Amino acid sequence: MGRKTLAPGAMKPCGDPAHASAFRFKSRGRTMSFNLSELLADRDGENFQLHTKYLNPQMAKVIKTLGFDRFYERGDGCYLYDEHGTSYLDLLSGFGVFALGRSHPVVRDALHQALDADLPNMVQMDCALLPGLLAEQLVTRSPDQIERVYFCNSGAEAVEASIKFARSHTGRQRICYHAHAYHGLTMGALSVNGSSDFKKGFGEMLPGATEIPFGDVEALRNEIRRGDVAAFIMEPIQGKGVYELDGEVWRSLETACHEADVLFICDEVQTGIGRTGKFYAFEHYGLRPDIITVSKALSGGYVPVGAMLTSDKIFRSVYSSMDRAMVHSTTFKGNQLAMVAGLATLSVFDDEGIVSHAAAMGDLWHKKLGQLNDSHEYVNAVRGRGQMIGIEFGAPTTPALKRRWRAVEATRTAMFTQTLVVPLFQRHRILTQVAADNVNIIKLLPALIAGEREIDMFVDALDELLNDAEKNSAWIFGFGVAMAKGAFKRTRSSANASPAQS
Ligand SMILES: Cc1ncc(COP(=O)(O)O)c(C=O)c1O
Repeated sequence: MGRKTLAPGAMKPCGDPAHASAFRFKSRGRTMSFNLSELLADRDGENFQLHTKYLNPQMAKVIKTLGFDRFYERGDGCYLYDEHGTSYLDLLSGFGVFALGRSHPVVRDALHQALDADLPNMVQMDCALLPGLLAEQLVTRSPDQIERVYFCNSGAEAVEASIKFARSHTGRQRICYHAHAYHGLTMGALSVNGSSDFKKGFGEMLPGATEIPFGDVEALRNEIRRGDVAAFIMEPIQGKGVYELDGEVWRSLETACHEADVLFICDEVQTGIGRTGKFYAFEHYGLRPDIITVSKALSGGYVPVGAMLTSDKIFRSVYSSMDRAMVHSTTFKGNQLAMVAGLATLSVFDDEGIVSHAAAMGDLWHKKLGQLNDSHEYVNAVRGRGQMIGIEFGAPTTPALKRRWRAVEATRTAMFTQTLVVPLFQRHRILTQVAADNVNIIKLLPALIAGEREIDMFVDALDELLNDAEKNSAWIFGFGVAMAKGAFKRTRSSANASPAQS
């Protein structure tokens, strides 16, 4: 078959054999057959075309409709850079993955060292050193009752492990969870998801998964009284909406569990490893979890990893004999690049005082956003801790502003916040997200290293946009109407235009 030739300047169609060039062997030796920079240069700008053809076409549509379509070439610290060298302040940090910012030199160097050392990765019938070292680090940073670690590859997988371990340890089936909870999207984790939108279309959930209203101690007690609850899983600060509970409520929920030997699982996949200004967010409330799940930040932003931490007793209820040594496992557990990324990340946390910096920045966020709250009627509340911040918008009381709010919201629920998120990106080059489906909340998850400069950039931009909104500038309505008429022709109860995964 002859090779297709392209007219000068024409976009190469996906799947064209011309694309094989960057993969072709250049020598018969074992190295240098693959040239990444050549491949990237060769296919520059085809990202949306490829996603539309081979990956999730709806996602490509969403990104384009929002006008978020860029071709990013580089990430450094709190910023992304597109092919024109334009910088974007990233306040999502990969949904909380880039705690140390993008391309942290220490983590990057550690990974180079690991690759150059030709480590004997995943021997499987072996007990490698690096998982032991990372487990030791995590246990050392955890409360006394936490003695052992199970490594996996993602947050959802850590949650799956927590469900299985809780069932195994208690011999009971049911798992209780909070309304609006988000614990991942694999089948077990989905079963304890507090949003019906995510569950729709996927059939039967895990038997015995039971939702309780957020912070409702009596509802949890009622479920526990039935005698068949294995565990209650919760996020110390809910990712979807950045909702918090008082320490007293948390302690009552924990007591309700512990009085009945029900396991108390703290899902720290998002809040853990410094995000909220403590190593674990449950420390804010003086809680004593039986199981902790972590993931995102531990990766250093490079290698997927998840971990479930628990007591020796709970661990041994699963791994109860040599016969059962692999009864819960996964091929890539403790893979060495992930372990190196985790160890390097924790060492940077210590060297650079990342957790205390996150706490200090939390105070600054609240101070500066508090001023916006005082000066703009559209701002209803500022929530969160450390570098996990939610800004909730709501109907103003001044009649003229209230009418504008209603007009925008009439086009689609939570459209007001969407009309802020889009110009924040397009006008101010700041990447943010709507915190959850159909809520008027912007969620900020900057890199933990973000400082006053980044906080000021966001606060000044939001201030300007809210001033515009108050002056009834045309763009806010123009955008709302365009969105409502455009690709997002969905019912008011359907998922939000902006994918609010975590
Ligand atoms: C609290 C919490 N648990 C679990 C998960 C799932 O993690 P992953 O997306 O790595 O599966 C997330 C993801 O955002 C999360 O925020």
